[in-house]
Amino acid sequence: MLFSKSFDYFNLSNYKIKEIITLISFLVLFGLTHVDAQSAATESDNLYRERISINEDWRFYKYDSIEKADNLIYDVRPEVEDDKDDKPADTKPTEAKNLEVTQMVLKPWILPTGNDFIKDPAKRYVRPEGNPGSDFPFVQSDFDNSLWETVNLPHDWAIKGPFYEGPDPEVGGGMGRLPSHGVAWYRKKLDIPLSDAGKSIFLDVDGAMSYAMVWLNGKLVGGWPFGYSSWRLDLTPYIVPGGENQLAIRLDNPNNSSRWYPGGGIYRNVWLTKANPVHIGQWGTYITAKDISKTSAEISLEIIIDNNSKNEVVVSTITKIFELDSEGKQSGDVVAEIKTSNKKITAGKKDKVKGSVILENPKLWGPPPTQTPNRYVAVTKLMQNEKQIDQYETKFGIRSLKFDPDSGIYVNGEHIKIKGVNQHHDLGALGAAFNIRAAERQLEILREMGCNAIRMSHNPPAPELLELTDRMGFLVMDEAFDVWERRKTPLDFHLIFPDWYEQDLRSLIRRDRNCPSVIMWSYGNEVGEQYTDNEGAAIAKQLHDIIKEEDPTRPTTGAMNWAKPDMPFPTVMDVISLNYQGEGIRQDPEFEGTNRIRTSPQYDAFHEKFPSKVILSSETASAASSRGIYLFPVTQNISSSIRDGRGGDSKIQHVSSYELYAVDFGSSADKVFSSIDRHPFVSGEFVWNGFDYIGEPTPYYGARSSYTGIIDLAGFKKDRFFLYQSYWLPDTPMAHILPHWNWPERIGEVTPVHVFTSSDEAELFLNGKSLGRKKKVQYEYRLRWDDVKYEPGELKAVSYKNGEKWAEDVVKTTDVPTRLEASADRNEIQADRKDLAFITVRVTDNNGLTVPIANNQIQFEIEGSGEIVATDNGDPTNFVPFLSHEREAFNGLALAVIRSKPGEPGLIKVTVKSPGLKEAKVVVKSGY
Ligand code: GAL
Repeated sequence: MLFSKSFDYFNLSNYKIKEIITLISFLVLFGLTHVDAQSAATESDNLYRERISINEDWRFYKYDSIEKADNLIYDVRPEVEDDKDDKPADTKPTEAKNLEVTQMVLKPWILPTGNDFIKDPAKRYVRPEGNPGSDFPFVQSDFDNSLWETVNLPHDWAIKGPFYEGPDPEVGGGMGRLPSHGVAWYRKKLDIPLSDAGKSIFLDVDGAMSYAMVWLNGKLVGGWPFGYSSWRLDLTPYIVPGGENQLAIRLDNPNNSSRWYPGGGIYRNVWLTKANPVHIGQWGTYITAKDISKTSAEISLEIIIDNNSKNEVVVSTITKIFELDSEGKQSGDVVAEIKTSNKKITAGKKDKVKGSVILENPKLWGPPPTQTPNRYVAVTKLMQNEKQIDQYETKFGIRSLKFDPDSGIYVNGEHIKIKGVNQHHDLGALGAAFNIRAAERQLEILREMGCNAIRMSHNPPAPELLELTDRMGFLVMDEAFDVWERRKTPLDFHLIFPDWYEQDLRSLIRRDRNCPSVIMWSYGNEVGEQYTDNEGAAIAKQLHDIIKEEDPTRPTTGAMNWAKPDMPFPTVMDVISLNYQGEGIRQDPEFEGTNRIRTSPQYDAFHEKFPSKVILSSETASAASSRGIYLFPVTQNISSSIRDGRGGDSKIQHVSSYELYAVDFGSSADKVFSSIDRHPFVSGEFVWNGFDYIGEPTPYYGARSSYTGIIDLAGFKKDRFFLYQSYWLPDTPMAHILPHWNWPERIGEVTPVHVFTSSDEAELFLNGKSLGRKKKVQYEYRLRWDDVKYEPGELKAVSYKNGEKWAEDVVKTTDVPTRLEASADRNEIQADRKDLAFITVRVTDNNGLTVPIANNQIQFEIEGSGEIVATDNGDPTNFVPFLSHEREAFNGLALAVIRSKPGEPGLIKVTVKSPGLKEAKVVVKSGY
């Protein structure tokens, strides 16, 4: 045990803290402070507040097992009786279990952290007496943590694995077979200079998975249980300026708590914010715009001012608005100004000031390619006695939204069909640890497909992801919860929903409401309360009302896979969001008599019942495939559920890439397109889902990651990518043939060839011989030659639009693998440890053609200013740890993710080797 030595507890008594603070106040009063050099980098040049990244150099310790963990628990949890996590996603959620708590728990000390987000003062929590954990070794500043692991944040403790393989794994396929569960501690010394005495100092955590509890200098400060929320702790009363302050954070992430891989650890950024005691509050500005046109817009601004001082103050604000450039940097002169007059704020209280201005010729924010995501920044100065005491920056965009029940969504007057995808929070082989470049790469690939919208399924995203969607111009459905009171997995969010729903929801909205990309708020996904009539609808109403109080400018929604038009549940939401119900669920005769959800197509029924509400498909498809795997025979239908011999093979745990197969409650992309086209009032769809994610490997829970992504876990495009591209970007010439043409064992056998093209017609040639020209009829989205007999050689598709040649694709039978080829997504990256290069490795033949069946073993080597963070190949069944520098290619491809070393500009040289193949090299410049 790392902590079994004897300790000389440095247990600060209240008396001691008071003494120190008095001394410091004395020093400050008499100007005897000195300014210590700041150890960490500040984010901007703001002279009035500091936002310091404290991601570097934490000490980390995770208990081997839950049994060995300390008992500083947030709350007791029910016994897990049913730990099978391979239930179909649309299983009816069940009631919470009642628990009697007899043990000492820390919840009463943690709940007050959320008080700012509880509207009714009578419901706010009062911190009990006492200081639990204050004598525990890990929270003491003189505890010797030298044997603990050194980590930098964002950190996902589970991603390194190893995977739990085989039957009855400790963590099942649903949660990704990785050790995300467990209790762990993070410790860091904060160097707080004496000059900070008298300042308000906050810890800002963008996300910690989960049940975070925080001690500073041996005192329990507070915490936040929900792993997806961003939260703040006021460290001021516990800080001792003039030296090192010991921060200790305990996390306790339960197994059986999620339907997908949650990750574990402090997996988002952490900041220290230092401000004058009288300052602009957390997420303290709210900017809205009305009467928006190209010639003018009225901008309104609300500012929350916190007076943490002991005196009443009189303050005013001046806000200057500037344009932001496409990188998000302030540019040009002031374009508008908002002043608010003097406001008295009582000691220890918060208050609001408001102002507005007309902005002439605003540059509107809107989604490309037809619009530009222009943005502004509001720089607010807080003044007291003519002196500036704080400065706060708010990025925002100006755009008008219109929701028309008969035609859909309009941004700045332009009709924008939602061509969206659902995205989970993990970043593939990098796990849940947030990385801006990895997220940006995902969005770039999605954009190439024609995607214009993201549903943040099913929980608050990293704030930087919304900065990206704002900057790049994606439309966003921001979603709070997957679960309310009724549970989907034994230890999921239902355990804390009753105590925390208000705080989690208000904090999400206050954090994200200035983001122009966010166009609606979803208060839940397929929640069990759909089934509980008025009771469930009453909870929905509470959540809806909270959202409206925080942001009346955007509609609310909640995704329904079960509730029907005549039920109370849909009456509450502004936008009707349907999961799968639009196309109908389990309609094939084989599902007759099933006890699962079986629903006829519902778009018309909802439209009729709610003629004033916009309808959106918040989840469509759940089509599945393994990149580069094709199974025979191929169904003649446009959509089929997956079974052995029908798109699936449970032995190899793969699903065919003919892209006609879906989970039982889903539909192929083709079927969804057809039903959306037949119902033009539907405002669009969010496909389940964009990128494969870790966990939820329906239909094969023996695997590690999903099959439903349009793009695989490594970021390689499946065939489906081109099907969506053909439909979403009808004006971009493209044609795509599937399958590959390496079938030595199928000579003379029927091997269907399908072509995805943005045109309406194509001719297919096999070894120069025409196999006929085919034309799409209405509601057809692919061209299929289902009776092609395989012979090696060349397949060529020539597509035509309106009779004119439009695009071409060629697929050739390759020779055997002889070499590797490697390329980087970017050849220059920043030398900051955060920036990444994604190296794609192809196994090719002598002619440079990727061998689509090659699974050669590949080794990655690196020299110079970078390191390999992870490797992958996109195979959902592969259990080689993501950290490994060696892995097989999967159907011709493999990936390495390279990170720069901080402050070490230079060349990063990656060499890729495989026995018997010619090696490849790729060079990335770092820090030029
Ligand atoms: C839906 C659910 C998603 C995901 C999907 C898998 O019912 O909302 O979270 O589970 O099924 O196909």
